[in-house]
Amino acid sequence: MEHSEKDQTAEDQRRVKKTDILRSFQVSFFAMSRLASLPWTFLEEDLRSNKSSELVSDILKQTCLHSLCRKFPPSGRYRRLFLSELIRQEAADGEPLDELYDALAEVVGAEDCTECYKSYILPCGDAVSLLENVALISEGTTGLVTWEAALYLAEWALDHQQTFLGRTVLELGSGVGLTGITICRSCSPNRFIFSDCHTTVLQKLRDNVQLNGLTEQLCPAVRVEQLDWTTVTEEQIKRVRADTVIAADVVYDPDIIESLVKLLSKIMRCSSAEVLPEILICSTIRNPETYSGFKQQLEKAGIGHRVITGPVSHVFPYNRISSIEMIKLYR
Ligand SMILES: C[S@@+](CC[C@H](N)C(=O)[O-])C[C@H]1O[C@@H](n2cnc3c(N)ncnc32)[C@H](O)[C@@H]1O
Repeated sequence: MEHSEKDQTAEDQRRVKKTDILRSFQVSFFAMSRLASLPWTFLEEDLRSNKSSELVSDILKQTCLHSLCRKFPPSGRYRRLFLSELIRQEAADGEPLDELYDALAEVVGAEDCTECYKSYILPCGDAVSLLENVALISEGTTGLVTWEAALYLAEWALDHQQTFLGRTVLELGSGVGLTGITICRSCSPNRFIFSDCHTTVLQKLRDNVQLNGLTEQLCPAVRVEQLDWTTVTEEQIKRVRADTVIAADVVYDPDIIESLVKLLSKIMRCSSAEVLPEILICSTIRNPETYSGFKQQLEKAGIGHRVITGPVSHVFPYNRISSIEMIKLYR
């Protein structure tokens, strides 16, 4: 290979790598991922070898100065920490960049709120933006933030869109709505019923569904229902007529497992033998005893399960060290 050709190939590879790095900064920033998980090492190396702040400027454009940040900003605290780290990196080897300090000045006085926007960027480039609480548990519920199993189930859905195509989907314990909204935006279901039991969660869920442009009038026809596993009636289940039932991170509390299993039995009882709905439960296994207790109760209720294995495409940024399992139920 001629020298110039080699140089060209190296330059092309650097450009591809730079595009990936910029995307990684953007995806992580809008989902408010742990700052330590961002690709700072690449930036550090780039600053050291080029002595130019071009990459810092590009990162800024894809994050704090991006139109999505104006519309759905991550928390002020997160933006402050993010910008401080960019400034720290740039101070070591780059030229001072005015827009970096202007961006910091904008957030320096921002109040720390209990709520913030998180945006999850889909492979098509669109974002699912959600209003979430900053604290993992607040107002006595776990339902005001997006959990890892919801992100995993959404990634699985993006890889298996035919499971939802033209279907009526019921989601149990929807929380703030990430999985369902991703499915509605990408997998063309016919109807989608989000559900939960907690009043504040239901309100936030309704707001997020609306924020993402989903309504009962458009296709998919979307509804948000109060569906409490402890009080749900067979009539309510029959009215929904779901072909597919999904739930993410609903097996975490031994006290609610019994009512969840009773509900799953009811769903199976209410459907005809020929057209059983496809039921998918995705769980983060935090406590193996709680999880195996759930499986034992399923067995006692005459419900079989099969573990769905296989990798999923990595779309959203989250900690993949946690043990997540997805099961499909059958009678
Ligand atoms: C850990 S959160 C998971 C939320 C969301 N699926 C996710 O993974 O991000 C559990 C959800 O189950 C809901 N939940 C708990 N008990 C319930 C019940 N008895 N009936 C309906 N929903 C319930 C909570 O309100 C909460 O939204």
